[in-house]
Amino acid sequence: MRSLINILDLSTQDIEELITVANDIIANPEKYREKCRYKKLATLFYEPSTRTRLSFESAMLELGGSVIGFSEANSSSSAKGESVADTAKTVSCYADIIAMRHPKEGAPLVASQNASIPVINAGDGGHNHPTQTLADLLTIYREKGGFDNLTLGFCGDLKFGRTVHSLISAMSRYKGIKVVLISPEELKLPSYIKKDVLKKNNIPYTQTTSLENAIADLDILYMTRVQRERFFNEEDYLRLKDSYILEPGKLRNAKPDLAIMHPLPRVNEISVAIDSDPRACYFKQVLYGKYMRMALILKLLGEAEK
Ligand code: CP
Repeated sequence: MRSLINILDLSTQDIEELITVANDIIANPEKYREKCRYKKLATLFYEPSTRTRLSFESAMLELGGSVIGFSEANSSSSAKGESVADTAKTVSCYADIIAMRHPKEGAPLVASQNASIPVINAGDGGHNHPTQTLADLLTIYREKGGFDNLTLGFCGDLKFGRTVHSLISAMSRYKGIKVVLISPEELKLPSYIKKDVLKKNNIPYTQTTSLENAIADLDILYMTRVQRERFFNEEDYLRLKDSYILEPGKLRNAKPDLAIMHPLPRVNEISVAIDSDPRACYFKQVLYGKYMRMALILKLLGEAEK
């Protein structure tokens, strides 16, 4: 594998290996401090980001490498009309690996087809976000000890939530998985994911609008933000944005070992009163994202096994 565009570019064995490396980085960070010396990561972010861009940059710096890039399209020559393909060819002359976020679905794939260096999809429109999924998988692994026999509830904007799409794809390969889809009617999981991922892999799933009715069965509750930037009109966003707000009272019937996850940023969908609940895992996801991105950079640069 040269680039990571979709989480399914990684086999379950690849994911196990990345988790092993990430756990080793957590235990022995000094072993990795020089692994990417003289290597450069280019972060090409055409959309806003806090966690993904800064964790990629932090990951490369902690591996002893350097970082170049831009954090908004307007500060690059795309503002003058340069194509993603030409940008990818250009950046290949300056860096060893690219992490790209773009509002258009498929843009990182186009970049990977034109770059001469590995390209990592750091989020493309409402499509995929495979490195968030790597963060999510390490979190699930460390909280639950594995991936089999889990009931996962996805709550909120399942239509535009690219992290949901990628995590459902990743989890569909494990045994005994059940999925509960909790969303307003207008923000249901796209039909193509139900057909191509859930039905194709015989994953039992239910759809509901009620978080309260679903919560008791869940091992993982994956909350999401309603994605304002993907709506065509503000009125719809305002009507739907607070459809689900997780507050302590709503956890009354939840399992004592429920893992509450969220890719962040959050707006109102998880009350800050939940942050001190031992079941809240969303800031662990933030931290684990850095370690999984370190492991991924090592793999794509061929440094993992050295
Ligand atoms: N989870 C995530 O993608 O966060 P950012 O948008 O801040 O990168």
